[in-house]
Amino acid sequence: MEIEFVAADASAPQNSALARIVFEGAALDGQLARAAAASRFTGAKGQTLDILAPDGGPARLVLVGAGKPEAFDSIAAEHAAATAYGALKTSGLTTLRIELPKPDAELAARAALGVRLGCYRFDKYRTKEPAEKKPTLTHAQIVAADPDAARAEFPALAALADAVSFTRDLVSEPANVLYPAEFARRVKELESLGLAVEILGEAEMARLGMGSLLGVGQGSVRESQLVVIRWNGADDKSAQPVAFIGKGVCFDTGGISIKPADGMEDMKWDMGGAGAVAGLMHVLAGRKAKVNAIGILGLVENMPDGNAQRPGDVVTSMSGQTIEVINTDAEGRLVLADAIWYCQDRFKPKFMVDLATLTGAIIISLGNDYAGLFSNNDELSTNLLAAAGAEGEPLWRMPLPDQYNRQIDSQIADVKNTGGRPGGSITAALFIQRFVNGLPWAHLDIASTAWKKGSTVPTLPEGATGYGVRLLNRMVADKYEG
Ligand code: BES
Ligand code: MN
Ligand code: ZN
Repeated sequence: MEIEFVAADASAPQNSALARIVFEGAALDGQLARAAAASRFTGAKGQTLDILAPDGGPARLVLVGAGKPEAFDSIAAEHAAATAYGALKTSGLTTLRIELPKPDAELAARAALGVRLGCYRFDKYRTKEPAEKKPTLTHAQIVAADPDAARAEFPALAALADAVSFTRDLVSEPANVLYPAEFARRVKELESLGLAVEILGEAEMARLGMGSLLGVGQGSVRESQLVVIRWNGADDKSAQPVAFIGKGVCFDTGGISIKPADGMEDMKWDMGGAGAVAGLMHVLAGRKAKVNAIGILGLVENMPDGNAQRPGDVVTSMSGQTIEVINTDAEGRLVLADAIWYCQDRFKPKFMVDLATLTGAIIISLGNDYAGLFSNNDELSTNLLAAAGAEGEPLWRMPLPDQYNRQIDSQIADVKNTGGRPGGSITAALFIQRFVNGLPWAHLDIASTAWKKGSTVPTLPEGATGYGVRLLNRMVADKYEG
């Protein structure tokens, strides 16, 4: 999608559709007022009214409701623009011109971001899609009061859109294509953005004592990988880094504690945390963020096999703590235990945030839109929640009660990897916390938000969402740069 910012008097190209975004209750003139009245269009948020070939106007005009003026913030501008895109994407026209009700530079740039996020689709394996179902819009022209100012705002947002698309591509790929080594290879390509990428294989991880992570990948013919991504953008190159760790289970069958067949295909998404961390590093490099940041990806495939680990096995983690593997399907925390320990041991970061599609229980707790936040630090939590609100990635803080630690005490080892059904997301977080060495740390359980069945938000087409990239990018930009 090509984005262009133009002044109101710039003419629209021949083959263009016009989307006029209007506030609720705004006065419309002549033909438009009659059309609105005839279809109950009021300008409420999300409404659209399609007007074909209006007299003397563009080939096609769509009115898009922006809701109340006082609630028209940057997220609302994104949504309105993405709604406009959705209404016209298969029109056959190639250019979408968007007129905002308030065309300041920030909102115009956000509208462009909305189009970029809303037009995402993963169609590389669709060879027989009928032409009339394929989107035709390739250009968006955003009308801005000061096009130069809007243009200047856009590069950081374009970098964000590129990064979210990168994450969505990773998360959407099926597991026969995207296995740990292939994931690592795609991240290695990000060195062209200025990132440094190291890839550790199983032999190296064994030397480091990562028995917990390696136990998960033990039943797979695909080699487990640990990817270390570094962005050194701070003026002080030796400044303490911030660190992000992602669960990258490229496919989660459950292992010997195998999952039921129904819906198991969804477990190709089980690398959404690692996908988000990779996307975050992508945007930090893409917009040359003034921060030193580390991204760690724990990449494995959890398979049942003659060589797979068994329920009851005891593994020794890099921290030295032993773990009784009660359920081989509680594998994400086993991967994170070693990835997190490695991160703090090697990089001594300011804080660590891990992202993981960790528990079905978080979906039971919070539903399909909110991710769960677990943290040992109020300041980090406040920063994460503020960024989540600003970027429209809903997040809710959950408790970490010490007394629930009893649920994961083991008879035979230092800890066990499941704590039973009560508070399943909480005991999973408490498990991870046992591998955090006192640093400020937060865990985001994104099992609820890494992908969507059906789209309810216009900037989130069905499928992989890229949840976490925007939130973390915003937190870094607002709190940890400069
Ligand atoms: N990857 C799953 C969690 C998950 C479930 C993500 C549904 C998205 C949708 C995780 O590895 C898992 O299997 N968790 C188990 C833990 C249990 C065995 C303690 C779960 O949630 O059932
Ligand atoms: Mn599992
Ligand atoms: Zn999993």
